[in-house]
Amino acid sequence: ATKPVLFGFPSTDNLSQALATFVLKAQDEALKKQATFRIAISGGSLPKVLGKDLIGREGVPWDKWEVFFADERVVPLDHEDSNFRLNDEHLFSHVPIPRQNIHVIDTSKLDDPEAVADDYEKQLVASFVGSSSIAFPRFDLVLLGIGPDGHTCSLFPGHALLDEMDGWVAWLNDSPKPPPTRITLTYPVLNHSLRVAFVSTGEGKQEIMKEVLDNPNPKEGLPSSRVRPISPGRVFFFSDDAALKLVQ
Ligand code: 6PG
Repeated sequence: ATKPVLFGFPSTDNLSQALATFVLKAQDEALKKQATFRIAISGGSLPKVLGKDLIGREGVPWDKWEVFFADERVVPLDHEDSNFRLNDEHLFSHVPIPRQNIHVIDTSKLDDPEAVADDYEKQLVASFVGSSSIAFPRFDLVLLGIGPDGHTCSLFPGHALLDEMDGWVAWLNDSPKPPPTRITLTYPVLNHSLRVAFVSTGEGKQEIMKEVLDNPNPKEGLPSSRVRPISPGRVFFFSDDAALKLVQ
């Protein structure tokens, strides 16, 4: 894996602009080789920062976007904890991505997280089968956040799911960050992506950003530090100065 690339910005507005440009560049490269741009997005503070500039860009072929969730909370889609709802508020409701291209969890199975994860994995299989890598899907872009404890997606420090090496989608009902029941992409999926970009902003991320960027050994490190896609995949960090204050 190549070394992560760090982009720092004086403000989140600057970051949003650069992130939108970066996403559209990934989109252009994807559409040169294939019919759709396949992106996975997390929740937390990311959707707002992502949508801010992107929704105003002109000429975006939104009908070629195929959107997945890097992780999702197992709640109804209109619940305030839903990552779909958050992304809908900040991105989807502002742009014409066809609804069938947004791969949401099956809410008829909410009381059975394993079934939710299986259904979601089937949606991934249906979308990726026929493309180059069948062992694991190869997303054009995965956008992730980093928690203060170093978690990313719903992969938490010390959790048994960190060792999941076969499945594409896993579920958990003991997430330390509420709500407890979630589904998440697994490491092998993240590590087969063409690009993973971590977006981490604000003072609350100072300590974890220092730890993440100083950590020399991804294998033993924090969940976010174990995201190191195999070649030609690359990792990027988009942070503002507030989050990078302790980084030299
Ligand atoms: C979730 C997220 C999670 C998030 C981080 C960072 O659904 O909880 O996908 O992995 O990205 O916790 O969240 P913040 O950006 O809000 O700090």
